[in-house]
Amino acid sequence: MEKQILLVDDEEDIRDVLSVYLKSNGYEVYPAENGEEALKSFRKYKPPVVLSDIKMPGMDGIELLRKIKLESPDTEFIMITGHGAMDLAIASFQDQAADFITKPINVNMLDVALKKVREKIVSRRLLREYTENLEKLVREKSELQSHLSSLGLMIGSVSHGIKGLLTGLDGGMYQVESGFSKENTQQIEEGWKIVKLMVERIRKMVLDILYYAKERNLNWENVDVLSFAGEVAMVVERKISSGNIEFIRDFDASAGKFEIDSGCIHSALINILENAVDACTRDKSKERHRIIFKVTPDEKNINFEVCDNGTGMDMETREKLFTLFFSTKGTRGTGLGLFISNKIIQQHGGSIKVSSLPDQGSKFTISIPKTTPGCLKDKSVSES
Ligand SMILES: Nc1ncnc2c1ncn2[C@@H]1O[C@H](COP(=O)(O)OP(=O)(O)O)[C@@H](O)[C@H]1O
Ligand SMILES: [Mg+2]
Repeated sequence: MEKQILLVDDEEDIRDVLSVYLKSNGYEVYPAENGEEALKSFRKYKPPVVLSDIKMPGMDGIELLRKIKLESPDTEFIMITGHGAMDLAIASFQDQAADFITKPINVNMLDVALKKVREKIVSRRLLREYTENLEKLVREKSELQSHLSSLGLMIGSVSHGIKGLLTGLDGGMYQVESGFSKENTQQIEEGWKIVKLMVERIRKMVLDILYYAKERNLNWENVDVLSFAGEVAMVVERKISSGNIEFIRDFDASAGKFEIDSGCIHSALINILENAVDACTRDKSKERHRIIFKVTPDEKNINFEVCDNGTGMDMETREKLFTLFFSTKGTRGTGLGLFISNKIIQQHGGSIKVSSLPDQGSKFTISIPKTTPGCLKDKSVSES
């Protein structure tokens, strides 16, 4: 600990004697002959201890004590009092002087006072360190806890999902085997289709989970909106197997460029478009379906619209659809898709709006700023 002390007394002899004594005890001493000078010196050197005469012309010791305590409550003050100034000494305690010694100064008394003050400073420093450590621990613990509880949820939901998919896989394998033993090619083919489908779903689930679990920084690039949207559309078109779903691109040619992590926004849009495909496939109430994928710029944003005439959603689903693991698709869904999309879009400073009616279809509107606010750019994915 630094041994610095501000020494204030109007009597030169006392200053000299005490200076010599304190220096010989390893202190760095800043002498001052009055309150004003002392205050100046205090502001310059910020010593942890002040040793000051109580009665001085001009600003007296008590006033100095009050001023210093106001600026620096942790600074310790030892008052030097003459005989007959006991009442002043006692008053100084009320202003939080740590101790006082009387004139003529007895160095043993001074040593005791200094020792006391130093102990006080050390224990205050330790206490502060403990408190800071404790706060840090509490913070880390609650972060860990929320990670753990979402991990627990995740493991439960994922095991459940994978168990269902494995049962499907077993069924497919059984078909294949039994087809082989009966030399029934058609049965083999049907079984093989199921096996491929199940493997594809397990792959998708695992990829989604990996995506969610990974911590990464966004990789910002300037991207041409139309070619980007074209690539996204192509991926979805390839996935539409039924001839009864029409996929319509409606791109505004003047869309220009925007600043995004293209990998992330790509996944976010694919998740939303895949849900639209699912909603059409699952909807048995209509013969034909269509999905419109629209892109329009406005002054600040690029707006993507995904509109389907599939199953639509009831109110409960509309309220929960962004919740982690919420899915109405049973073993076919993971409930990760929209959770991830929402997170990604937020990280881009964008927004998602949903409107939907049961049996009529749904519309998702995603707005992403053309240039991302600087403050978002150095954030990593796990933080928000
Ligand atoms: N276009 C849509 N039409 C109808 N329901 C939807 C649509 N998009 C999302 N949903 C509902 O939101 C739920 C959550 O979606 P998501 O997070 O992608 O999980 P998953 O697709 O694995 O179920 C879906 O299970 C579904 O009920
Ligand atoms: Mg989905």
